[in-house]
Amino acid sequence: MGIVFTRLFSSLFGSKEARILVLGLDNAGKTTILYRLQMGEVVSTIPTIGFNVETVQYKNIKFQVWDLGTFLYTCGKFSLVMPGGQTSIRPYWRCYFPNTQAIIYVVDSSDTDRLVVAKEEFHAILEEEELRGAVVLLFANKQDLPGALDDAAITEALELHKIKNRQWAIFKTSAIKGEGLFEGLDWLSNTLKSGGG
Ligand code: GTP
Ligand code: MG
Repeated sequence: MGIVFTRLFSSLFGSKEARILVLGLDNAGKTTILYRLQMGEVVSTIPTIGFNVETVQYKNIKFQVWDLGTFLYTCGKFSLVMPGGQTSIRPYWRCYFPNTQAIIYVVDSSDTDRLVVAKEEFHAILEEEELRGAVVLLFANKQDLPGALDDAAITEALELHKIKNRQWAIFKTSAIKGEGLFEGLDWLSNTLKSGGG
């Protein structure tokens, strides 16, 4: 297990069990971020079908990262690749909503065509009753790509000013270059330590 990752999360959450949901449209870079943090390297990813669950154990701390792939955006994709599965997968995923301290919402900042969809899915997540207490960290990812919108432009496009009664922050990241990720997680760490989530 990545030593950086375990160190980070042991300092992040002390001895508490913590749950973070990594959400975002398909192709946003969630899995790339997860493995970048965990192993400190770029791995080649395939679209996540279903989910990746990574458990990091460090001394008495167990940390689970739930990479929920594309469920909010493409429930249809699931029914397609899982014949015989539920027609609606969302009730199933709700099992993982309770006790979620934080949501990391990843946006492909270069995919301007789908920012409206990213916005709608983001605000739908915020309306989930069980995620009401979760703090929100946004990653404006793929900053290395030409034409990527910066954090201010993503803030506007996703209408982040509409967020009420919740701590949130946005960071510019490049999962490929490994930039901005730890700055964002530092914020998350400090926010959760000071009682958020
Ligand atoms: P789903 O599992 O389908 O929901 O996608 P995902 O959000 O997990 O995306 P994934 O991590 O698989 O990345 C999708 C593609 O974007 C891959 O080809 C990554 O290499 C690429 N990618 C991810 N982050 C970055 C980034 O910061 N910069 C650039 N240039 N490419 C990135
Ligand atoms: Mg993925």
